[in-house]
Order: sequence, then C-alpha cells, then structure tokens
Amino acid sequence: MSVQSEIQIRRTFAIISHPDAGKTTLTEKFLLYGGAIQVAGAVKSNKIKKSATSDFMEIERQRGISVATSVMSFEYEGVKVNLLDTPGHKDFAEDTYRTLTAVDSVILVIDCVKGVEEQTMRLMEVCRMRKTPVIIFINKMDRDGKDPFDLLDELEEKLKIRVRPLSWPINMGTHFKGVYSLYHKKLNLFRPGSQRVEDDVLIIEDLKDGLLDKQVGERDAKQLREDVELIEGVYHEFDRKPYLDADIAPVFFGSAINNFGVQELLETFIQISPVPQGRETDVRFVDADENKFTGFIFKIHANIDPRHRDRIAFLRVCSGHFERNSFYHHVRLDKNLRFNNPYAFLASSKDVIEEAFPGDVIGLYDTGNFKIGDTLTEGEDMMFRGIPSFSPEIFKELINMDPMKTKQLEKGIQQLTDEGVAQLFIHNNGYKKVVGAVGELQFEVIQYRLENEYGAKCRFQPIHMNKACWMTTTDKKQLDEFIRLKIDYIYFDKDQNPVYMAETGWALNVAIENHPKITFHTTSEFKTASLV
Ligand code: G4P
Repeated sequence: MSVQSEIQIRRTFAIISHPDAGKTTLTEKFLLYGGAIQVAGAVKSNKIKKSATSDFMEIERQRGISVATSVMSFEYEGVKVNLLDTPGHKDFAEDTYRTLTAVDSVILVIDCVKGVEEQTMRLMEVCRMRKTPVIIFINKMDRDGKDPFDLLDELEEKLKIRVRPLSWPINMGTHFKGVYSLYHKKLNLFRPGSQRVEDDVLIIEDLKDGLLDKQVGERDAKQLREDVELIEGVYHEFDRKPYLDADIAPVFFGSAINNFGVQELLETFIQISPVPQGRETDVRFVDADENKFTGFIFKIHANIDPRHRDRIAFLRVCSGHFERNSFYHHVRLDKNLRFNNPYAFLASSKDVIEEAFPGDVIGLYDTGNFKIGDTLTEGEDMMFRGIPSFSPEIFKELINMDPMKTKQLEKGIQQLTDEGVAQLFIHNNGYKKVVGAVGELQFEVIQYRLENEYGAKCRFQPIHMNKACWMTTTDKKQLDEFIRLKIDYIYFDKDQNPVYMAETGWALNVAIENHPKITFHTTSEFKTASLV
C-alpha cells in the first residue's frame, strides 16, 4: 500500500484528564474493543490495570501513578489506532505536553461530578496552543453529577472552546438509563455492571417511536425528546471541519467503568478524528504524505528492562515510509544511523517491526544518541518544531553526596534530563547545577533513579528562583552587556543556550524595562505562545 493509503487507515491520539477522572479505565475499554486485552471488567482488578498501562518503572509501581508515557496500538474497524498514554500526575505535566506534540487529536475525560478541574484547564491550554482537535468524554454518569447542560456551559467557559454534544444521557446517577447517540441516531440502554463489549445496541431511528417510551418510561422519553429538541435548536448541525480546526469540541457522555457510551465514542472517533497530519520544521512544512521518511523523538524512556541500562527513544513518524535496517540521517549529530530492532508497542509488550508509516510511534534502542526533539530524515537538514521546554516552576541545586561517585552523578543527571525527566541548567562557572521541575515528585524520581540506576547519591537544596528565561535580541551588544551584568544569574540549558534565572517576578520586570532590545521567553521555542 502507498504511504497515502496507509495514512488513511491510521489515527494517533492521546487520552488526557485530571487524575482520577477515568483516563485509565477508558483506555482499557478501548483496548478491550480493539481486542488488545481480553479480560472484561479489567479496572476492578488492579493486576490488569497495572499491566495494561505503562508502569515500566519500579517507582511508578510503588506510587501507583503512571509516570511513564507509553504507546498502545490496536485495530478497530480496519483502522490502526495508536493510543499514546500520558501520566496523570500533575508533576509530570511536561511529559504530557511533549506527548501532545506526537498526536493528531485528543480525547479529554471529565468527571461529571467534579466538572472541569485544574489540570484539565492546563492540558486544554496546550491543545489550544497547538490547535489539536479535542473530543470530550464526560465520564461517571452512573454517579449523581452536575446537570449536563450546566456541564456544557462550564466546558465552554473554562476550557474556552465551543462544544457540540454528540451523545446525550437519559438521567444520571442511580437513574441513569443510557445515552442517545445524536451522531448515529441510536439509543444505547444501560445495564449497570455490564462488562460486555459485543454490539447489543437498540436502534431507534425516530425519537417519536413509542418503543422509546416502552424502554425508558414515559417521563424519561419525554425528557429525552425535549432535551434533544433543545440541543438541535441551540447547536448547529455537527460539522467536521470546525472540529478538525480545533474550534469545536464534540462532547460524549458515558460511564467508562460500566463500559457505557464508550463504543459510541470510539466509533465516532474513528469516523471523525484526523488522519496523521504533517508537521512544521524550522525550514518548511512537511506533509504526511511525502514519500521520504521523517520523524522526531518526543520521549526517551530508560530501563524498560531493569536488567539492562537500555533506553528507548520514542519516534513519531511524520512522513514517508520507515524501514528496519535502513540508514537515516540524525540531523543534530549530522550522522547516519541504522536501526536493527525498531519496536512497536502493545501495552507493556513490544514487537520488532519491519516498517512504519506516518502516525506510527516506534521505539528505537538508544545508546545515548538521542535527545528529545531530535529529527531523523532521509538526508534533509531540518528540525521539527513544537517540542519546547517550558520554564520550570521549582528550582533546586543538585548537591553531590558522594564525591567518589561524581562521574556517575554527572552521567546520570545528564541522561535523565536528556530523557526530559526535568531540566538541567548549568551555571556559567560550569560547576553549579540547578534542576528545574514542574512538581516536587520529579525531584524524588531523579533522586531515586540516580541512586538505583547510577549508584550516585545526591540531595536537592531549594534555591530562590522564579523563572527561567530564554533570550533573543535585536542588539547583540545589549545582550552581551546584560549577560556580563547578570553573570551570577546566567545558566546554560541542555543546548547551550544562555538562560536568565530571574529571582523574582520583580527582577524580571526590571530586566525587561531596562533592556528593551532583549526579549525574555518562558518557553525555549520562541515562536510558540508562552504557557505561563
Ligand atoms: P485516571 O486514570 O484518570 O486517574 O482514573 P482511573 O481510570 O484510574 O479512575 C479513577 C477512579 O474512578 C477508579 O476508582 C475508577 O474505577 C473510577 N471510575 C472510572 N470510570 C468510572 C465510571 O464510569 N463510574 C464510576 N462510578 N467510577 C469510575 P478507584 O476506586 O480509584 O480505583 P479501582 O479500585 O476501581 O481501580
């Protein structure tokens, strides 16, 4: 098959949510439908829950949160679906942001009791910034939550996106009776505890049909008719284009744990979600259907197999045809590399693959060649954009606790920050190392991994820093002068860019006022809007 037709049968997306909204549960149900796992009712059994998700790391198992991001592929109705899992914990938000660069759309899960939560808003901000199409799944309808119309208003207001319901619930909580698919004009009746995935949907083509009253009772049938009439009156006919342009988010209701509303979601997703899209590079836009292979690394994961210190770099294929054992050009290193054992992933198992196409995510064995954002091509010199580092929120100085293990510590911190666990800033003097992270948990992970994987002991000393600012200028002299003046606050990032570590918001404002020809950026990719 040609690259063009391979693209048509692929969908690459992520499920994102505030922790506990039901992302893991929904993921499992999708895997069930895709035949990737066989056991129904999986979520109740923690064993399956753990193995179906991506907890490769010991620390993750200990804490019971999903630190790692992995890829799960399955087929549904002839479509190859690549689902990229993201860590739910907010301290690993940056990992999630990076994963979002590798997908073409997302499903956002919301808990109907809690509504839009803090992490939901931040994730949505990233989607908006990248213009990623979003489908919203309102979960836990078997609980008494907020009124569905109020939820729609809340979504529009807090997530700053127009919404369009494509399914509608009949009651909620203990009275929850089912969801009517406004898209397929089908009624799916709820049987609590049902874990079956086979198709037993009652088709009601016309809501006026008396069968509806028989099935759900007159009162609820009347309510559903009124609700649907209201929706059809208020909202425009669903149009795929504004969804693909990220202007409108279709909304579905259901209960993931009860396997309810999930099939409607998956079926509609397969039909409306975008096929693998092209990506912008620093030189030109690369279309997905170009014949030459290109791809970029969006994640590096260490120690998938704890017996070896192996690293796996996750590559998203952007265009063309990737083939095992072919040489590809590593643009940053200006080096040609060949991959004998590229992997495709299915939950925690991995298989060697011969080829891959746009939208696919493959795992490449890495012996230290890769950093996040690296681009592979068939020779063209260009780097994919949109994998920025954001200014961390917490900064701590890395203190070596065992001088005999200095080398191990250096190597470990370098490798862990290459993986994107946190950001490393090295002071101008070359000695002082500051680690910047989004949350406290990242420091714990680094400390744990440095000790367990590299045998190096460290501690972190809090320091007073407010923001890391990358700088651009129209006047090199002014920038050189600023760096000289602020030498104590100038650090270098992983790519040797100078970064001004502002101690306070006030210090940053003074710097901005006094240096009009310098622009201070809180993301490392200056064309992207600032997140913070
Ligand atoms: P997350 O990945 O977004 O963090 O959420 P996860 O799927 O782990 O779900 C969080 C909790 O919500 C789990 O309960 C899960 O069983 C429950 N849940 C998921 N979907 C539904 C739903 O449709 N209805 C209801 N009522 N609950 C739902 P837990 O007690 O934390 O874990 P477990 O013991 O059930 O595994």
